[in-house]
Amino acid sequence: MYTQGLNVTDTGKPAAEDPAKLARFQVKVDAEDKIEPNDWMPEAYRRTLVRQISQHAHSEIIGMQPEGNWITRAPSLRRKAGLLAKVQDEAGHGLYLYAAAETLGISREDMVEQLIAGKAKYSSIFNYPTLSWADIGAIGWLVDGAAIMNQIPLCRCSFGPYARAMIRICKEESFHQRQGYEIMVTLSTGTPQQKAMAQDALNRWWWPSLMMFGPSDKESLHTADTMQWKIKRFSNDDLRQKFIDATVPQGHHLGLTFPDPELKRDETTGHWHTGEIDWSEFKRVLAGDGPCNRQRMKAKTEAHEDGAWVREAALAHARKRAERAAAARMAAE
Ligand SMILES: [Fe+2]
Ligand SMILES: [Fe+2]
Repeated sequence: MYTQGLNVTDTGKPAAEDPAKLARFQVKVDAEDKIEPNDWMPEAYRRTLVRQISQHAHSEIIGMQPEGNWITRAPSLRRKAGLLAKVQDEAGHGLYLYAAAETLGISREDMVEQLIAGKAKYSSIFNYPTLSWADIGAIGWLVDGAAIMNQIPLCRCSFGPYARAMIRICKEESFHQRQGYEIMVTLSTGTPQQKAMAQDALNRWWWPSLMMFGPSDKESLHTADTMQWKIKRFSNDDLRQKFIDATVPQGHHLGLTFPDPELKRDETTGHWHTGEIDWSEFKRVLAGDGPCNRQRMKAKTEAHEDGAWVREAALAHARKRAERAAAARMAAE
């Protein structure tokens, strides 16, 4: 439910915007000025950001599950401490992002409700299982690596609160990426069984991480508007190509192979060419039929219900404090 600052018709579609305001808005965006929560903005811009930022926040929170699964089974105290810190970082990212979305007039409670009701999406990558410790390495290297490619340009997003949240998030994501790669280095230079674990993890995570950039430009619905509004700076396919070009040499450095017989370097452009992505798998997982969709939502719903007493207690405490402060003010007058 949206609660404030709206300009919506009865049909739920954004009303036609005032052309003069719209023109001033675009001038500001083109000048690379930040749009702040109290500034005028087109309703479609606000809605796009609410959808994108809340989806991003949900992804950070759901993304804690596949890795949280390995905290108790990390192979050493050092690895356990690192993974624990990483999973906590992801919780923090979710919180910054919920806070950024709240400045657009939606409450965190409503966003979480939309997630639990299945009305809001999170990144499909988190619907894949983590089957071995090597998956923790592969996720850091590939999934956090892909997230960074997507998110670095968002540090310059036209909406101020989102851009500022992304600066801090990206610093932490790059640490996650290096931590994941270091796990992959250790496994790849270890025993033959360890190297086989690393290879198996790469085989399973490679294609899903390429899908993280979203549908190809030909099919992407929102690109033109979001580019004009400077929410997005590069197309899905451009970002995916940057990721592939950065990541393939890292995999070869580990002595690993990629699960793609068509992978080859184009000597004239310098880009790595991949085979066709299986978009039917992407659509299936997005529609709710991935290996872990039900498990992830069940865990989220249970955690939310288990935490109800904490939220209620915090609200009761805040109410009591406000009452005490009001009583003290009255006594002083
Ligand atoms: Fe994150
Ligand atoms: Fe991360």
